[in-house]
Amino acid sequence: MIPVHLYGKMIPMSELMTQAKKANISVIEDAAQAFGTFQDGKAAGTWGDVGCLSFYPTKNLGALGEGGMCLTNQKALAEKIRLLSNHGQAQRDEHTLVGRNSRIDTLQAAFFNVLLDRFDKFQEKRKKLAGIYWQELVGIKELTLPPAAEDSNLHFFVI
Ligand SMILES: Cc1ncc(COP(=O)(O)O)c(C=O)c1O
Repeated sequence: MIPVHLYGKMIPMSELMTQAKKANISVIEDAAQAFGTFQDGKAAGTWGDVGCLSFYPTKNLGALGEGGMCLTNQKALAEKIRLLSNHGQAQRDEHTLVGRNSRIDTLQAAFFNVLLDRFDKFQEKRKKLAGIYWQELVGIKELTLPPAAEDSNLHFFVI
């Protein structure tokens, strides 16, 4: 099952995980738009077997080019993901499976580290702008506005 958290908001994960466990289905959480959002004190991307983050520049927390991250606390899965993202290479010139080159570029990782420190400030600004949208658009009855974002990060303001 691949739940996708959109616009910074999370799908009710506790309920989803209960259903997935009952049906013995693995969960890959797409948290590309929900970096930094928490539910019941647990971060988006840390509920499923694997959580996927995107650091594409348009994201809540983006590098200046391509980047991303997989989160898991399952050792075997972590090792497999590391292999897959590095040409299936366990060590130099020893390929144990068919993988690809999905290594984050070192420069992008450096940009990311700098921007990570500014994440809270970026969110503050997004929420301030969203506040202006709410204030100015609430009177237009033809529009449905997104729910308030007190408990989550804000990514897009979709009407
Ligand atoms: C919800 C969601 N999932 C996945 C992706 C893909 O991210 P990437 O292009 O970094 O793999 C995006 C990016 O647009 C996204 O918004």
